Amino acid sequence: MLVTGLEILKKARAEGYGVGAFNTNNMEFTQAILEAAEEMKSPVILALSEGAMKYGGRALTRMVVALAQEARVPVAVHLDHGSSYESVLKALREGFTSVMIDKSHEDFETNVRETKRVVEAAHAVGVTVEAELGRLAGIEEHVAVDEKDALLTNPEEARIFMERTGADYLAVAIGTSHGAYKGKGRPFIDHPRLERIAALVPAPLVLHGASAVPQALVERFRAAGGEIGEASGIHPEDIKKAIALGIAKINTDTDLRLAFTALVRETLGKNPKEFDPRKYLGPAREAVKEVVKSRMELFGSVGKA
Ligand code: G3H
Ligand code: 13P
Ligand code: ZN
Repeated sequence: MLVTGLEILKKARAEGYGVGAFNTNNMEFTQAILEAAEEMKSPVILALSEGAMKYGGRALTRMVVALAQEARVPVAVHLDHGSSYESVLKALREGFTSVMIDKSHEDFETNVRETKRVVEAAHAVGVTVEAELGRLAGIEEHVAVDEKDALLTNPEEARIFMERTGADYLAVAIGTSHGAYKGKGRPFIDHPRLERIAALVPAPLVLHGASAVPQALVERFRAAGGEIGEASGIHPEDIKKAIALGIAKINTDTDLRLAFTALVRETLGKNPKEFDPRKYLGPAREAVKEVVKSRMELFGSVGKA
């Protein structure tokens, strides 16, 4: 069933588990995510970026909303990193039940003003809103405190920001970053900062850039001819600890992309004569589903639907 993001996330924060927001761009990813959620009896958030909406157009948005409505578990359809008021309005018109306005690169006052405007429009049609405060960046352990402070979310600012904007959930910057290169070794996550934010902000908190970039997946991608540098992701224990401290929504895109592409490469490599797309998209879809399931287990959302 299609529900708002807040409906899913409020319960998650109250009960201390996390819910995955998984990015989709096509039919195979959408099916993999929804099948995993139904099999695991887990709530889930289907995230579409502006890039996804541009790539898939109405075919994608209509499919995603229709499948979410039919699902046997709670599903929110979410705009990921909405960059403008207009972009949010487009998502609202398409029937999304959750939108993100990301003005984290603007100054504080602009972020407040633009977020507030989006909150008013979204709430008027019963849709809930994610906002972001702080800059997503990989932080080296030895980076000076004031440098970290300049990039990462300030707890007191977060409290004021949420009070002034009326946003429903907040993406925080605590050291994670997007993509497959999150820093050497085990990327630094500022859990004490998260604890301070969570003490001041009762709303569900959101972790972007949370992919694990599992070494086994990186090796598989390489073995199948893919080229990738010194990839690294967020350690599962660091995710668990963040959930215990108040993170309720965990975004994952990179792990799914890696799994899908590794399997396409592997299948085509083993079967050079194959040109039926279903023969390589099918196994790739299965691989995405397996990653989604294991993320749900890690987040503790299994059986929470
Ligand atoms: O955070 C961004 C997501 O991974 C989506 O990426 O803008 O390439 O679709 P995209
Ligand atoms: P990853 O690149 O770590 O998967 O993060 C995805 C994300 O934050 C989407 O908004
Ligand atoms: Zn993100």
